[in-house]
Amino acid sequence: MPQRSAVEAPNPLREGLRIKHSPEPCAMVIFGATGDLTHRKLLPALYNLALEHPLPAGFSVIGFARRPYTDEQFREQAFEAINEYSRQKPINQQVWESFASGIFYLQSDFHNQAGYEKLNALLNRLDRERGTGGNRIFYLSTPPSQYPEIIQRLGAAGLNKSRKGWTRIIIEKPFGHDLASARELNRQVLRVFKEEQVYRIDHYLGKETVQNILVFRLANGIFEPVWNRRYVDHVQITVAENIGLEGRAAYYEEAGAIRDMVQNHMMQLLTLVAMEPPIAFDATAVRDEKVKVLHALQPLQGQNALLNTVRGQYTAGWMNGRLVPGYTEEPGVRPDSGTETYVALKVFVDNWRWADVPFYLRTGKRLPKRVTEIAIQFKQPPSMFWQRSNIQGQIDPNVIVLRIQPDEGISLRFGAKVPGTEMQIRSVNMDFFYGSSFMRPQPEAYERLLLDCMLGDSTLFTRRDEVEAAWEFIQGILDAWAEAPRETIHPYEAGTWGPQAADEFIWRDGRRWRRP
Ligand code: BG6
Repeated sequence: MPQRSAVEAPNPLREGLRIKHSPEPCAMVIFGATGDLTHRKLLPALYNLALEHPLPAGFSVIGFARRPYTDEQFREQAFEAINEYSRQKPINQQVWESFASGIFYLQSDFHNQAGYEKLNALLNRLDRERGTGGNRIFYLSTPPSQYPEIIQRLGAAGLNKSRKGWTRIIIEKPFGHDLASARELNRQVLRVFKEEQVYRIDHYLGKETVQNILVFRLANGIFEPVWNRRYVDHVQITVAENIGLEGRAAYYEEAGAIRDMVQNHMMQLLTLVAMEPPIAFDATAVRDEKVKVLHALQPLQGQNALLNTVRGQYTAGWMNGRLVPGYTEEPGVRPDSGTETYVALKVFVDNWRWADVPFYLRTGKRLPKRVTEIAIQFKQPPSMFWQRSNIQGQIDPNVIVLRIQPDEGISLRFGAKVPGTEMQIRSVNMDFFYGSSFMRPQPEAYERLLLDCMLGDSTLFTRRDEVEAAWEFIQGILDAWAEAPRETIHPYEAGTWGPQAADEFIWRDGRRWRRP
């Protein structure tokens, strides 16, 4: 039988994405419907779902926010947002018209109980007129300080459960500001909703390449046997961004890189790399294993936290031929701000598989380029044979790099003989690129996540114990930093790879950061 080419062959990842069964008709209520996230991500994701996997007939969106819009005005805004941010353009008029006929707007203050009663009436009307069957998703996309009140008022209006159908709630990040507030938020949510109704979103889990971490590890016989302390020297996880604050000073000043990126996205990447194979690909089994990794993290506290982390803050610098301001010169940032825009840390997963293998994590804003990658560096073979034989060239360690974004793909670095009459060795790469292998655009993370929520699959959402375990680890670092002097925040010039202290930090271990 002829072999199928890579282009024709089914992509296990994409297959996983296909609708196992179509979602039932439902209504999605977006709190904070006039905000940035709704425009940039949620509405374009829903439109793309409508375009690709036809959303169920009758699917409806209700924007719930303070500004005085009519349904028609909100539809116009939705059109503009989709026109600008949809990954598929131009807009398909027929799909848009059918999608737009299900868009509604409800103007209300979040503090006003009457608004929730009106919402109840509108949802009941949509059940009758559009056949949404009592199925509801509430999406919290407001500033997090509003979450408790919205949740409590939904409960008071009896909207936390449906008489028929199902009710789910999606909660945007940040989920809490520290361990205590995350626990408190969980308590508030779970007073009104049951855990199985709650979908805590971390958009990194919706990225195809992030889901592929488990496929790569578990669907291939050759990688998993070496995925442990016997063969792995260390792991580096890098989430570099070239952007700065993007007008989000109020939020970022309170968050900093550790809350914005490490507590959620980077902890998720770490758990997927380090977890044991789950007994099945379902919400309980996968999340059970991820939580075990978080519980196995060696705590970083006090002096130990200071020794194993580096904080940085960018100063003015050149990026792509443009002088960009330093963090404290950004509008809305205090001139004496002690917020970190860069963090590097070394963590250990104290379990049978990973004992003594360092995981180096780093993330920062205003770094030279946008790149997210996970590099698994392997131990080197004994070198005396090569030394005795006086072979030229350097023998570098093997590295598997999972490139999460951009240029999504995987590469394996290994030594090869340089062609010629001499015995000379050089490192080369074996590369896989998503783009050229599958020739299909990747869906946006929010498309996958919204669809999964409609289908009732919470595998790619964060469970209560998971979010708290991640905060428990981060809290030790936050406490240590709170006691440390301002000088422990190292400046780095925008457009460079972070503070010198971060280089010295890894050199101490005889290693160096990759230059992605
Ligand atoms: C968000 C952070 O969660 O993730 C932002 O709040 C960050 O600060 C963004 O820029 C990065 O996401 P992505 O998908 O562009 O890597």
